[in-house]
Amino acid sequence: MNKIICNNYIEMSRYAAQIIAKQIKVRPSAVLGLATGSTPVGTYHELIKMNRAGKLDFSKITTFNLDEYYRIEKHNPQSYHYFMHKHLFSHININSGSIHIPDGDVDCADEECRRYDCMIEQAGGIDLQILGLGANGHIGFNEPSSALFSNTHLTPLTIETIQANSRFFANIDDVPKYAITMGMSSILQAKKILLLITGSSKAKIAAEIFKGRITTDIPATLLQLHPDITVIMDREAASCIAQ
Ligand code: GLP
Repeated sequence: MNKIICNNYIEMSRYAAQIIAKQIKVRPSAVLGLATGSTPVGTYHELIKMNRAGKLDFSKITTFNLDEYYRIEKHNPQSYHYFMHKHLFSHININSGSIHIPDGDVDCADEECRRYDCMIEQAGGIDLQILGLGANGHIGFNEPSSALFSNTHLTPLTIETIQANSRFFANIDDVPKYAITMGMSSILQAKKILLLITGSSKAKIAAEIFKGRITTDIPATLLQLHPDITVIMDREAASCIAQ
């Protein structure tokens, strides 16, 4: 695992954006795996600046988001569809037909999961997957459990995740109890992974990724199996890692 410790969130975001920009320059038709949550917002902001300055072209890229709440309508401000358009897509020259996010407003979630996996496969797989880290060690919405799913699937959310994500909702009861998420195998199949971790509240769980122990109780520890992963953290997030 390649570990980069930055002084602060802004530096972390700039560093991550440079890696993504490099990927797009090497392969203008790159397939990017994208994440939601507050962590990558700064990175998306940096990418928007590069696009506006004419330094980065998104016209040929394809994107696949990790997850979406179930059930939620796309235009709901709490949906990840809304989030991605607000924080990235509506500010860059991406082709709207190249954006993929699981549809959280379908009757048959299983069908949607199979459709999503097929689309990733048809796109030739993900070149660079951006990830954040859940407070309980989840990746996407792969929650701690005795067993994890390999492919895209419908999952119940844990109480910890519902509580953590309630900050984006008016009321905790409004937080959806389910989500559609790419599975750990889908994520680990990406050619490169970029994991972003920020803030002292993630320090203890972040340290678990560097202990050489792999457990489904902390899904992020499975990332140690990937041959090309870069973890970019700020100092606060890295504060519990044994030196
Ligand atoms: C959500 C997303 C995850 C994300 C996590 C952390 O649960 N499904 O993909 O990594 O939140 O969010 P934050 O970056 O806001 O801490």
